[in-house]
Amino acid sequence: MADPKSKDKKSIGYHQGDVNTVISVDDVNRQAQELGSGVSLDQIAGMIKGEPFLKIENLRAGYGKMEILHEFSLQISKGESLCLIGPNGAGKSTVLHSIFGFTKIFSGGISIQNDSGIQNITELTPNQKLKEAGIAYILQDNSVFPGMTVEENLWMGGYLKEKPEEAKEAAEEIFDKYDRLANRRDQPARILSGGERRLLEISRALVMKPQVLLVDEPSIGLEPRFIEMVFEILHELQHVEGKTIIMVEQNAKKGLEFADIGYVLVAGELALAGKGDELLENPEVGRLFLGG
Ligand SMILES: Nc1ncnc2c1ncn2[C@@H]1O[C@H](COP(=O)(O)OP(=O)(O)O)[C@@H](O)[C@H]1O
Ligand SMILES: [Mg+2]
Repeated sequence: MADPKSKDKKSIGYHQGDVNTVISVDDVNRQAQELGSGVSLDQIAGMIKGEPFLKIENLRAGYGKMEILHEFSLQISKGESLCLIGPNGAGKSTVLHSIFGFTKIFSGGISIQNDSGIQNITELTPNQKLKEAGIAYILQDNSVFPGMTVEENLWMGGYLKEKPEEAKEAAEEIFDKYDRLANRRDQPARILSGGERRLLEISRALVMKPQVLLVDEPSIGLEPRFIEMVFEILHELQHVEGKTIIMVEQNAKKGLEFADIGYVLVAGELALAGKGDELLENPEVGRLFLGG
């Protein structure tokens, strides 16, 4: 691992990019731990604009016997966006996995406010999350089916629908909105550019008309102009369509500029939380995560 004191080498640390300060992952972890002594439930509740819509309470969760998240809590109102940042391995993806039902939950709970009241969704399977709770998870890795056409890929997003026509109707709505996809509807997904592929991944999740989008590192592996495009699309989904967005973003600057609320997760615990723009201006956050 690079010597954290040396300033003359390019970082291979937290950022993918061209940060000139060298700081090792271990060092980020250690220093991030000193960022704050945790965040109280009152602070978490005080940061949201309206009533809590999705709530995680004192969650202990992980994989197998291993606990990754320790007493983690989160709140978000309907139509808001929240971005999780933090060092590699902090458990950011595990938060999204837990909301969607991919982890083992040891204690604590997850609930969502729907028309009939507060629904405890802690134990729902991923299929139930999507179908009954309106939560969609957008995969971080390249998950389009390259041999299928763009259109067929979209239909796959409706695999849980009882009536295939509904998936086809939803696909048409998506084509009406995104020319980039409509122009390529009959072509195999393998020919799409990186940005179009990410758009297809997001759109495929929209076929089920979810209320909540869980988005893991939307900018990963994309050229800058496509990063802009993806954030514009997410912005429109939040501000025009009223989707609630919980995102993990390695590009902390982009993520915090986008999101209403930012959470800094360190070693499975919430170290710091605030409005996105407050965290952007926090010098310690800047130094550790923004390459500042
Ligand atoms: N499917 C899995 N099975 C077992 N351990 C996992 C799995 N996914 C992640 N982990 C572990 O959980 C920890 C947190 O990982 P993750 O949530 O992916 O971190 P982040 O997204 O913040 O980089 C890491 O130690 C990682 O090795
Ligand atoms: Mg991750």
